Amino acid sequence: MTVLVTGGAGYIGSHMVWKLLDRNEQVVVIDDLSTGHAWAVPDGVAFVHADVADKSALDRIFSEHQIDAVFHFAGAIIVPESVEFPLKYYRENASKTGALIDHAIERRIAHFIYSSSAAVYGAPGMDPVTEAAPCAPESPYGTSKLVTEWMLRDVAAANPAFRYAALRYFNVAGADPDMRSGQSSRVSTHLIKIAAEAAVGKRDGVSIFGDDFPTPDGTCVRDYIHVSDLVEAHYQALVHLRAGGPSIIANCGYGSGYSVRQVIEAVKAVSGVDFEAIIGPRRPGDAAMIVADSTLARTVLNWSPQLDDLETIIRHALEWERRLAEQGPKTPSDQDSQVCPEN
Ligand code: UFG
Repeated sequence: MTVLVTGGAGYIGSHMVWKLLDRNEQVVVIDDLSTGHAWAVPDGVAFVHADVADKSALDRIFSEHQIDAVFHFAGAIIVPESVEFPLKYYRENASKTGALIDHAIERRIAHFIYSSSAAVYGAPGMDPVTEAAPCAPESPYGTSKLVTEWMLRDVAAANPAFRYAALRYFNVAGADPDMRSGQSSRVSTHLIKIAAEAAVGKRDGVSIFGDDFPTPDGTCVRDYIHVSDLVEAHYQALVHLRAGGPSIIANCGYGSGYSVRQVIEAVKAVSGVDFEAIIGPRRPGDAAMIVADSTLARTVLNWSPQLDDLETIIRHALEWERRLAEQGPKTPSDQDSQVCPEN
């Protein structure tokens, strides 16, 4: 059987492709390259340059390959952008996923693994947060992810042969320990990526978006998870579904919270570079604190994280950033483009 990875040219998707190859799976990637890079898809992997809602491209893929599972990573991911352009997020994340699910059902695809987000919780008021917490997203990005979870739930109820895993990501960072992939955003918004860029001299410093939150040092607290552990959770979700396990919604985080200040200090310490960090205003859509309870993923999916260490995450992020800085942009379009970072 073959696995279809949407967004496989992006940050998390490309790590998933490597993980699947490591496990001797056959893989097909579909990616519109709006934010990903063709060079991020490993050599020899079938790659279709198309939108995830492109029915003719999907028909071709489903006809040419024996697909039993879809990993759906493609989507728009920038919380503040979603506040400004909500319809983009409903279109890219909800409507297009609806079309993809529709095609998957038509083709009797049994397993669907979805990139959901901790943003579905909003400000959960539960520390750490379990999947049983009420969902009250604080941004259109979070709402678009929650709506899609509801679609999956309802479609699975109506089609018993279709089962899904919706994995609620906390703050994904780092890079493949073997440096086969990493975060190659054209425009960066995520904290560890930005701080790593500052450490390698790609930017002057970092802005701290608000220091008046109700947290120990006033800056937001997040649960940072290594991208390689995250894709391992996806692989375990595939194993679970293939073994006949029921649909599942599970948090993917470690259960340890770090403030923005702590992350910046850690990047300075690991890199040995003292860059500037300036306090700025709050960013729209940011919750003060969110940390995962990942008991469900650990017990039901047998997920056993191997890289649960902020220093390791930062070390890998920095190593990838140094490589990017040494190599420079890989294509002219990478150099010129100013579109959003990849998922
Ligand atoms: N931050 C800064 N300066 C920066 C960048 C970020 O202070 O230059 C702060 C943010 O305000 C936030 C924290 O660092 O408080 C983390 O921000 P990120 O942009 O790295 O990540 P988010 O928390 O906004 O979002 C990520 C994912 C979401 C997920 C969420 C859950 O993108 O999909 O984590 O915590 F839902």
